[in-house]
Amino acid sequence: MFKLGASLICADMANIQREIELIEDGACDHIHFDVMDGVFVPRYGLHPELLGSIRKLTDLPIDVHLMVTDPEKYIGIFVDNGATFLTIHAEACVHLHRALSNIRKAGAKAGVAFNHSTPLGALDYILDDIDLVLIMAINPGVVGHKLIPGSLNKISDTRSRLWGKNSEVIIEVDGGVTFENAPKMLERGADLLVCGSATIFKDGTRINQNAKEFRLHLSNLGDKTS
Ligand code: DX5
Ligand code: ZN
Repeated sequence: MFKLGASLICADMANIQREIELIEDGACDHIHFDVMDGVFVPRYGLHPELLGSIRKLTDLPIDVHLMVTDPEKYIGIFVDNGATFLTIHAEACVHLHRALSNIRKAGAKAGVAFNHSTPLGALDYILDDIDLVLIMAINPGVVGHKLIPGSLNKISDTRSRLWGKNSEVIIEVDGGVTFENAPKMLERGADLLVCGSATIFKDGTRINQNAKEFRLHLSNLGDKTS
């Protein structure tokens, strides 16, 4: 079964409590929380205090996506504010194994993210240290960009790498997810899809209806392909 994560950076921050209620009513499985520092990626994202406020509003798992340089500096503050999963970029971390171990020691589940051009080799030596691998299907730091076509192959490469090591690690796909390309992502082995501007948040306040429609669309297609 696939999981859907609502990309909170696409939500109406002026009415965040209502947005969270609609995300829950839409039966989303996760909340995806994008953090950007204006250096690793060319804009600013969500911050730890907002995470703390969101944590008080919902029991849904929150996967925090750190698009920052030197992510080890921020492990404590995001785990303390309620991150269920804390995902750091392989490109941003010299001591990846140490950082992932520190995320788990701090009490959260550990995730590693790969930009499209980054080879997956690093996975081979940290599979026992992670709970989630995030495959960027766009170049990070923006909302509403089109999928990089080659990222579908990267999803299947990740799946075969995990199968080779019979790993239960969750494969999350982030950026550019649409009604059209999502079935292909699931066929290639994705477990968790980040739903942003082209799916759940595609038109303002109908988040819950959009989430139910998207899940039905994928389930129906799943039935046809299985
Ligand atoms: C972009 C973020 C994504 C983004 C997804 O760097 O990591 O989570 O919010 O939004 P869409 O689906 O609109 O690309
Ligand atoms: Zn993200």
